[in-house]
Amino acid sequence: MHIHNLSKQNSVLNTFISEIRDVTIQKDRMRFRRNIERIGEILGYEMSKVLQYQMAKIKTPLGISEINLINGDMVLCSILRAGVPLHNGLLNYFDDAENAFISAYRHHEENSDDFEIIVEYLACPNLENKILILADPMLATGRSMVTTFEALKPYGKPKEIHLVSTIGAQEGVDYVEKYFDVDTHLWIATVDETLNDKGYIVPGLGDAGDLSFGEKLQH
Ligand code: URA
Repeated sequence: MHIHNLSKQNSVLNTFISEIRDVTIQKDRMRFRRNIERIGEILGYEMSKVLQYQMAKIKTPLGISEINLINGDMVLCSILRAGVPLHNGLLNYFDDAENAFISAYRHHEENSDDFEIIVEYLACPNLENKILILADPMLATGRSMVTTFEALKPYGKPKEIHLVSTIGAQEGVDYVEKYFDVDTHLWIATVDETLNDKGYIVPGLGDAGDLSFGEKLQH
């Protein structure tokens, strides 16, 4: 797998990462969502550099301009609900992408920290021979990303796969690296050392879905 950990280089991306982590700043939900969206824009921009391009001729009022444009149909798939701001950030740059949405949540057995990933909702176009971008803001154990990809398999075989995430744990990165083909790309803003016993990334940022959209009742 090609792992692109963008925090290895200093850039303005660090500002957005610091703000989604900061226990005070992250309480502003609109700012939290917008920062995730801005991270999605940067990850999408970096990803665009490895896509395939084809020369196009653009008619201007004064003549013809030649420029290389992205060649290939793209499907952007996000995991609900935390993936929505990251999805928006990617979609801000890939205007014509088709979109897929999938729900995945952790189901804990009573009194247990262990969980299984449940998929309940899936809306997806044909993926055959397309560029699939699979976005999940928190790559914790990696199990949501893999479960999601398994659920997408009946929709066709993409020609390229790009995983996109804001914060990962090393364990999650290792897990997806083992599962996906070597030519898959992972675009990630930063990678933390550990997971706690509830499967949360440490230091991480907390619950990305709750921070974006408010707490939900557990039932
Ligand atoms: N999902 C989150 O929102 N946060 C984590 O730390 C792990 C999974």
